[in-house]
Amino acid sequence: MTLKPVKTAVIGCGNISSIYLENAATWDILDVVACADLDMERAKSQAEKYNVPRAATPTEVFADPEIELIINLTIPAAHSEVGLAALQAGKSVYNEKPLAISREDGQLLLQEAQKRGLRVGCAPDTFLGGGLQTCRRLVDEGAIGQPVGAIAYMLTRGPDYWHPDPEFLFKQGAGPLFDMGPYYLTALISMFGPIRRVTGSARITYPERSVHSGPKAGSKILVEAPTHVVSVLDFVSGPIATLVTSFDVADKYSRSVTLFGSDGTLTVPDPNTFGGPVQLLRGGEDDGSEVSLTHGYIENSRSLGAADLAYAIRTDRPHRANGEMAFHVLDVMHAILDSSRTGRHIELNSSCQRPSPLPAGRTLNE
Ligand SMILES: NC(=O)c1ccc[n+]([C@@H]2O[C@H](COP(=O)([O-])OP(=O)(O)OC[C@H]3O[C@@H](n4cnc5c(N)ncnc54)[C@H](O)[C@@H]3O)[C@@H](O)[C@H]2O)c1
Repeated sequence: MTLKPVKTAVIGCGNISSIYLENAATWDILDVVACADLDMERAKSQAEKYNVPRAATPTEVFADPEIELIINLTIPAAHSEVGLAALQAGKSVYNEKPLAISREDGQLLLQEAQKRGLRVGCAPDTFLGGGLQTCRRLVDEGAIGQPVGAIAYMLTRGPDYWHPDPEFLFKQGAGPLFDMGPYYLTALISMFGPIRRVTGSARITYPERSVHSGPKAGSKILVEAPTHVVSVLDFVSGPIATLVTSFDVADKYSRSVTLFGSDGTLTVPDPNTFGGPVQLLRGGEDDGSEVSLTHGYIENSRSLGAADLAYAIRTDRPHRANGEMAFHVLDVMHAILDSSRTGRHIELNSSCQRPSPLPAGRTLNE
């Protein structure tokens, strides 16, 4: 069955927009008709580079009745404002992560969408990649037995070393937890289900930093968001995990996700990527072995979640990278910082369903 493509606009034509626009052109279901940004030069240059018919202001995009979906790639501080404006204009929205900065703004997006019968989707969509879908299948099939826990960490010297305009990554709504945590939390939630309570400890190791590359090199950044965050996550289904995220260490990039169960240990690929490797150690073995990936989308497939949402609109099924899960992730991240501030466990009020797994191979329209 040929489905009518969903007319889509990208708002926010910065760093990450290139891979979205490159990949969006490969999906029959997405018809990207406009690029928009506060900075018209950026919108024009991305539209030209990726053969998008027009560059526009966000207001022009909202006023176009043909556009059904907004892919919102603005900075975190603008996610809720742009997302809400899109919904109020009658369009579904797929936000980059995090869904919003505050819980209240995240809730508003979900309520507005529900009121209007529209969809909210949210990155990351890496959990739909071949690496993490293979892990999900293994966990669901009992390859590690009863899940007991997980250790996940991501520690780097910080995006001030590579991002051309990294200031926003040290402000409220960012830092390593809000910037990188969604990859780790979404991966864990897609395998273990929702989280019921958390504890956390957080600090700012360096209150002032400077940009290390690009035209802004040397300019100072005043750090607002905690940059070293350690947490314990209790899942509703039983396992207990630790998650450490940091922008404060000497390592360029040190990361790991390992799931431990009664019958095996699963080494999960980098949840900020779509591919492998996946390694499984079964009980009684001394060494693990690599597992062949059973699912597709192993290359950088950013836009996969938005394409899944577009298919879901046309076929009237739930979309996988959804607002409910993104809100739970947002709530968990706030709760970790609340716990650090108050010195106690935080029970979560939010929850979510595990999104349905993708079929093996390379199929999305199910
Ligand atoms: N850079 C990466 O590698 C990367 C990777 C994954 C996810 N992300 C996420 O993608 C988002 C964007 O990151 P980026 O690195 O591309 O940032 P960026 O600063 O390079 O680009 C953001 C763009 O949004 C525009 N913008 C800001 N507010 C706007 C508004 N209200 N209306 C319209 N346009 C607006 C800016 O002018 C800018 O062009 C962030 O949420 C980030 O967490 C980035």
